Amino acid sequence: MLKDILKNILDQGKKDILMCRTLEELENIKIKYLSRKSELMSLSKNFSQLKPNEKKEIGNLFNLVKNTLIKTYEEQKQRLDKISINFDPEHPGKQINIGREHLLTNSLVKIRNIFINLGFNIYDYHQIVNEKENFDYLNIPRNHPARDLWDTLWIENKNKKSDYLLRTHTTAFQHYILTKYRPPLRFATIGKVFRYEATDKSHDFEFYQIDALSLSETTNLQNLKYTIEKFFINFFHKDIKIRFRPSYFPFVEPGLEVDINCIFCNNKKCATCKFSGWIEVAGAGMIHPSVLAQAKIDYKKYRGFAFGIGIDRLIMLKHNINDIRILHSSDLRFINQF
Ligand code: DAH
Repeated sequence: MLKDILKNILDQGKKDILMCRTLEELENIKIKYLSRKSELMSLSKNFSQLKPNEKKEIGNLFNLVKNTLIKTYEEQKQRLDKISINFDPEHPGKQINIGREHLLTNSLVKIRNIFINLGFNIYDYHQIVNEKENFDYLNIPRNHPARDLWDTLWIENKNKKSDYLLRTHTTAFQHYILTKYRPPLRFATIGKVFRYEATDKSHDFEFYQIDALSLSETTNLQNLKYTIEKFFINFFHKDIKIRFRPSYFPFVEPGLEVDINCIFCNNKKCATCKFSGWIEVAGAGMIHPSVLAQAKIDYKKYRGFAFGIGIDRLIMLKHNINDIRILHSSDLRFINQF
């Protein structure tokens, strides 16, 4: 009889202890099974009335039940202790680092949207182009000295220079657009270009450019000026003035260099604008008749403007960054600032 009671206490006690989910519950169960007033402990008071041989057997069983329950209690306590240390429902959650857009990506998207709002179609053209697209169709035939303006990374084919190269400027998309779409048209491309150049604070062997062109029967330099001015105002969120200077690019005639007033000193002259009050930001001009003719466009009927802007330099100006290379690095101290 006594034996059965003890075995029941053992079975039920173990179960109850293991069912506890909090330390509080566990302490209550401990009182129920192991305190002086517990059923188990009160049983021991009757042991003196037992016969000597029973006393030994029941005594052993009693100790076994008591020790097993104590052991089970301690193990469960350890388990619950661990959980309660690791989980505090009121403790603030750990912040997960989900990353963010890189300054470059973010700026490229903004630039893209500005051009869309100015009425341009955006065309993503290849980074690998052929020699004709990068040079010949742009009025820079082989052996023309102007080719030296662009230090080119040629693609080798069986150790021989092939016709393919990494585009040195996004202007390489123009012939394709002029042959694929008929005027009137307005297109821009944004992307990476490559130059075989030593790197320093203001030069990298890869950087981003935008090239835009507009072609119709009436397109003129005023349209060009308006478009470029609007672009810079939208990009810098400031009132920007631009000026044209005559320059040479084989694919435009006249060719122009575009300056904006220095955004740091507002034309008062500072180190950034090399004390001129102006910063050079783009190349531009009216599309050369030879470029139109090679795309089989009647250059007597249609005229167009084109311009190209280096994007990394603009981002550097806007955010006061003094080394172009850091834009393409993975330095989180830099990246996380934006
Ligand atoms: N492609 C020229 C460069 O990389 C920039 C440029 C100048 C683009 C004049 C044009 C342009 O579209 O009309 O230096």
